Amino acid sequence: MSDYVVRPITDPERRSTFDLLLRSLHGDPIPDERWGPMADSWAADGKTGAFHGDDPIGIASSFPTTLTVPGGGRVPMAAVDGVGVRADWTRRGVLTAMMDTQLHDFVNRGYVAAGLHASEAVIYGRFGYGAATSSATFRVSHPARLREGVTAPGHVRLLTTDEAIATIPALYQRIGTSRAGRLARPDRWWPIAFHWHLGKDGGNHRVAVHTGPDGDDGYVEFRTTRQMHRDDPERGALLDVRDLQAAGPEAVAGLWRFLLSVDLVEAVHVRGRPVDEPVSLLLADPRRARTTDIEDELWLRLVDVPGALAARTYGPAEPVVMEVHDRMLPDNRGRYRVGPDGVTRTDEAADLELDVDTLAMLYLGEWQAGPLALAGRITGADDRTLAQVDTLFGTAERPWSGTHF
Ligand SMILES: CC(C)(COP(=O)(O)OP(=O)(O)OC[C@H]1O[C@@H](n2cnc3c(N)ncnc32)[C@H](O)[C@@H]1OP(=O)(O)O)[C@@H](O)C(=O)NCCC(=O)NCCS
Repeated sequence: MSDYVVRPITDPERRSTFDLLLRSLHGDPIPDERWGPMADSWAADGKTGAFHGDDPIGIASSFPTTLTVPGGGRVPMAAVDGVGVRADWTRRGVLTAMMDTQLHDFVNRGYVAAGLHASEAVIYGRFGYGAATSSATFRVSHPARLREGVTAPGHVRLLTTDEAIATIPALYQRIGTSRAGRLARPDRWWPIAFHWHLGKDGGNHRVAVHTGPDGDDGYVEFRTTRQMHRDDPERGALLDVRDLQAAGPEAVAGLWRFLLSVDLVEAVHVRGRPVDEPVSLLLADPRRARTTDIEDELWLRLVDVPGALAARTYGPAEPVVMEVHDRMLPDNRGRYRVGPDGVTRTDEAADLELDVDTLAMLYLGEWQAGPLALAGRITGADDRTLAQVDTLFGTAERPWSGTHF
């Protein structure tokens, strides 16, 4: 018998489990004056804890959101936003026990998917999560400007902090969720973001809104991370963008035009953007832009495989029969016939086999079947089947989540 229990946390255990999370990420426990603004965002609902007696030794937190899937449908998703095990309890199965409990809870709550951002890439595959989107970091060094011919007819205005808090959530909701991989940002997501970025705790971010022909259609949240020095005028500020959201390419271009127009800046650094964003193409001198990083972004777990497969659309190819393995949620196991006309369970022979984490890597269109087969993640498929899978699951735009949690 194990010497700890895994169970939902109760209301009075919110603060100690939040501190446990901060400690596991090498942060300090939260002081009284800062707990107040955070408390509402750390609700007991959706949190699975591990306890040794009354002491919390592990936490796995989640909140509800929706995920946009290829074709534009949206499915209920649990966003797993805080996972940690006390340092003296690691590698004894605590996380495994919490993940097991949490996944079954997600099934009972009717989630089709779960998603998270992984601190390390080796942790979550065993629980059925696969890296399902990527994001890019771009750095544009001055002197840089948009090339003539870029269509960006809108204008940009800076907001006060109060205006930003009042404006941005509804604007995001209106413009932000159509691409595969995008997430709704529920009410409880915003106070944390505002607290860390616009509040007293290291805020200093400013928010600018872009207005196009049809009204407000994008915004950027940014700060400067280094000041210009008078004795080194060549060395300007670094303009660091935390969140850039836009309804379409013209709003993206308009926001870039604004970012590049800010004076006394040496370089603009934008994290967490779609990998296929054509930043260099927008510039008069394309080499002023560099992609400095591409990293895994949303790790996806298909909690309800038949529901998830039915929710998305597929490209024009002959159907394939996929045999899906799932170690933790047996109801997902089995063969699925996937084609442009829909998805059915079947007893037909499988054209390929894969684990549920690999299915998540295919699901939003991020990965191609050939490399997944090369890596031993897809087995039993011939080249024709792999090409069919690419046509069925491929998407015109790379999937992108764009929301950190
Ligand atoms: C990551 C963390 C939650 C893992 O918790 P844990 O209770 O040690 O995990 P488990 O004991 O259930 O490990 C399950 C398996 O995953 C492996 N594993 C877990 N974390 C790992 C890591 N960081 N690196 C490599 N392997 C890891 C274990 O070795 C074990 O493998 P096995 O089944 O072959 O024995 C914990 O180490 C932690 O709190 N880390 C710091 C905070 C953090 O990174 N949180 C995640 C935020 S996304």
